[in-house]
This record gives sequence, C-alpha cells and structure tokens, in this order.
Amino acid sequence: MKRIGLGVTGGIAAYKAVEVMRLLQRSGCDVTVAMTRHATEFVRPLTFRALTDKHVIVDDYDPDNPDPIAHINFSQNIDLLLIVPATANIIAKFANGVADDFLSSTYLACTAPVMIAPAMNTTMWEQPAMRRNVEQLRTDGVHFVEPVAGELACKTVGTGKLEDVENIVAQAMALISNAGSSTRMDESGSGSTVGLNPSQHFFNESNTKRDLEGERLLITVGGTREAIDPVRFISNHSSGKMGFAVAAAALARGAEVTVVAGATTVEPPEGVRVIRAMAAAEMHEAVMREMPKSTIFVGAAAVADYAPSNAADTKIKKEGRETMTLQLTKTPDILADVARNRHEGLIVVGFAAETSDVIEYARSKMEKKGLDIVVANDITQRGAGFNSDTNIATIISRDGSSRDLSLRPKQEMAQDILDVVAQLRARTTEGTYRP
Ligand code: CTP
Repeated sequence: MKRIGLGVTGGIAAYKAVEVMRLLQRSGCDVTVAMTRHATEFVRPLTFRALTDKHVIVDDYDPDNPDPIAHINFSQNIDLLLIVPATANIIAKFANGVADDFLSSTYLACTAPVMIAPAMNTTMWEQPAMRRNVEQLRTDGVHFVEPVAGELACKTVGTGKLEDVENIVAQAMALISNAGSSTRMDESGSGSTVGLNPSQHFFNESNTKRDLEGERLLITVGGTREAIDPVRFISNHSSGKMGFAVAAAALARGAEVTVVAGATTVEPPEGVRVIRAMAAAEMHEAVMREMPKSTIFVGAAAVADYAPSNAADTKIKKEGRETMTLQLTKTPDILADVARNRHEGLIVVGFAAETSDVIEYARSKMEKKGLDIVVANDITQRGAGFNSDTNIATIISRDGSSRDLSLRPKQEMAQDILDVVAQLRARTTEGTYRP
C-alpha cells in the first residue's frame, strides 16, 4: 500500500484537497494529512481527521499533537509528499529552505518524491519571483501539476486554477508507480517531468519502444455534446476508445500527452493530462490554446459538425407544441483549423469514418484539411468503428504511402498509427518531408 503525505495549504481550493484525499484512498493509498495554519481557515482539520481516522498535524508544538518530532516521523514514513493546493507562500518557502512551520519542516526532512499542485491568482502565478521559485524547485527534483486556465475565485479568467482533482491523482499515482524506491534527491536536476506510466490494462511498457521521446502529443477524444437546452443535447456514439488507445500508446513510447476529451464511455489512461471539453466550441478553444506547445496533433474525436444555433437557457416545454424545428449552425472544424494554423514541424493526423468510397473520401479529406496522415475506416464493416474494441482501417500519408490494417484491437491499431507518425518524423528530421 502506498503512503501519501497530503499537505494542504491556505487557499480557496483547499476544499478540493478533500476530494483528492478520497480519490487517493479509493486508489488504495494510505493518506496522512498535514495542514498549514491558514489552510484550517478554509477547511477544518476535523474533516480530514474523520475521513482518515488519523490526527491531522498543523503544528508540531500543539499540545494535542501525539508525536513530539512529527515532522521527522511524518516525512520518513511516506512514499510521496503531495501538496494540494500549494500557495505562493509555501512554494517560496520550499524553494528557499524556510522551515518555520510543520509543512515546510516536513518538506526539508523528506526524502520521498514531492509533487506540488499550485492554485493562485494569474498575476501571482506569473510573477518573476514565482517563476524563479518554481524553476528552483524543478531543479531540486520537485514535480509540478501545473495549474490550468479557467475562472478563478477572484472572478478573473486566466491560468492559476487548480488542475482537476482526477488529473492530480492520476499524476500522483503515475509518479509513485514509476518512482519505485527512488527519492527526490535521486531526481534533482533531472528537469522533473513525471515519468508517466500508461495504465496497466493498456500496455506493458517493457516491450514498447521509446521512439516518441521529446514529442508532445495533443489529441481530441470522444464525442461532443451540443446543448439544445440545459437538459438535452445532440451527440453521437463515440466511446473514446480509439483516441485513448493512441494516447496511452504515445505515453508508453515516451511522448508527453494531453487529451482534450468530450463525452467518453471509458476512463482515460493513467498518466495523461486530461482537459474536458464537452461541446465542439469548447473543444476548439482548448485545442487552440494547447496547440502551440504540441509537436503532434491527432483529431480522434467525433466532433458534431452542427450545433443548435441558439441553445435555450431554460428547459424547453412540450406543451402546445406538436412539432419542433431545431436550427443548426456549423461548428468550427478543429482539425482543419489546426492544420491551417500549424507551426513548423507539427504533424497533423485526422480520422475519416466513412460508409462508402472510403479511400476516395479520406484522400479528399486529407487534401481539403491539409493533413499529414489520415486514418480511414469503413464503419459499415463488422469490428470497425464506434464503441467497438477493434478496428479496421487504412492509414494514408500525404507522402503517397498507405497501409491496410486488417481487423485488430484498437490498442494494436494505435501502435500502427504511431509507427506511421514516427516514420514521418524521421523523414522530417532527415529533411525529406516537411509537415
Ligand atoms: N473534426 C474536427 N472538428 C470538426 C469536425 C471534425 O476536428 N468540427 C475532425 C475529426 O476529429 C476527425 C475528422 O475531422 O479527425 C473527421 O472529418 P469530418 O470532416 O468531420 O468527417 P465527416 O463529418 O464525416 O465529414 P463529411 O461530412 O465531409 O464526410
């Protein structure tokens, strides 16, 4: 059983640490909680105490504290020190070796890996002092779960929001399952990206090549939901299985993976960063934001081509209506926009699910949208397409080559698709292909 020391510091997002603790427990971890004095202004220690059945340490010198050298004992008996949320103050203290309370002393006394999930106002996050502290901690071997963009407690929109609790837990689990017996000291100076493992049911990493190291893959997955009113939507049968299989395979081959996921019926693989975006417009926005950091883009989502022109703010009532007409407007074509706005070296991969003239339509889609690779399926064939665990496809590349892939599990097909991506990258590197 993995032992997690969960450090909670004083920010509005402190309540989310409760959910992180529950998810860690559900993942089979033994969690012990430490809080800063300010954190207790946001959530009471009693909440954590009731749920962990353990004393929650705030102050070593507290007369109620059963352990007089708690910061030493606490820090020596954990496999990971996870700080959720981390304020600017605790990051500054960790970076500078200040040890003026329980949590900062614990950090100094700790040899286990440390993972920090910051949450703060955008201006604070972007301050040069903060950048220096974060850089210092990365050099010291600390892992970060980067804050995301969104609406902040101060009603502004920007980067600084705590990453989704599921993603924090996924990254923590990936770190400890990879870390083995390593310590933070072993990792210092390594640049501290999390050595992420795909979830066990996707791949056995031992027999996977690491030919995508250094690549940053961005992939859309699942189906979109286009609101008609607050309770109804238009969607499709996409499960997300093919996209998640590509994400897991890329991770196993060494890429950093960000998934922009719509509605899916299966869970994302462990270790990938997941951004939920349910509607085509949201997905478009998330992709455009993430795209500049990426080196490979895969459009595996079944994005609705049309969405209701005016979604109702309140539930539409049926009384007095025998018929109903919905007006639909075309959604942004994410894949085409990525290809149109691509930066140098970005490889763009699309899917084409067709019911007739598959190869012809797929080739024309590749031309029209400006893709490097298109994966074409005939979804009328048994064992291909939506919701199935298998697929049948032809992979067509812009350099003219194509590969027919007979019926096979989606995990295997994901590897085949990435083989073609890796080949194209090799050609880019030697200068015989320009994406
Ligand atoms: N796609 C996208 N954004 C959209 C629509 C599609 O990114 N708004 C992507 C899908 O992820 C997939 C590819 O485009 O990679 C599918 O092409 P698409 O033009 O949607 O296929 P169809 O909808 O089948 O188009 P058509 O009606 O022209 O056959």
